[in-house]
Amino acid sequence: MPVERARPADHTGEVVAAAIIVDGRLLLAQRTRPPELAGQWELPGGKAEAGETADDALRRELREELGVEVSGGDRIGEDVPLPDGRVLRAYRVELVSGTPVALDHAELRWVDGRELGEIDLVGNDRGWVPDLRLHLKGW
Ligand code: C5P
Repeated sequence: MPVERARPADHTGEVVAAAIIVDGRLLLAQRTRPPELAGQWELPGGKAEAGETADDALRRELREELGVEVSGGDRIGEDVPLPDGRVLRAYRVELVSGTPVALDHAELRWVDGRELGEIDLVGNDRGWVPDLRLHLKGW
């Protein structure tokens, strides 16, 4: 039998995360996987595909994960280097149409600045809290 060679992993590229803020509250999504992150909350997003700009990736990911159309956005917070060599970046995006639904997450929640500090965020997103709070009410 021929031995199938594993395709080399893509150790470059961007993972985009969306800060959707409405009336001073930020939308967070609760992960279902992998097991070590299940139950923790994150800014929704995911890996940009080959040839996609960050904008393209944000629009596609949020359509897939939340069923909404977005536009934007400006960078928010610092780059987060991921262990696989990718870089995680947050962007402020605006809702253009639709109401967010948890299509790929356990649950969604809108949090104010105080709640953002108390919720169990995924480790990678925690460094963004001070930057995010500048746009939130209630802290
Ligand atoms: O969601 P997905 O598994 O496609 O995300 C790709 C990688 O980016 C994962 O390692 C995930 O933990 C990370 N990520 C993150 N914070 C986010 C979105 C994704 O740490 N807000």
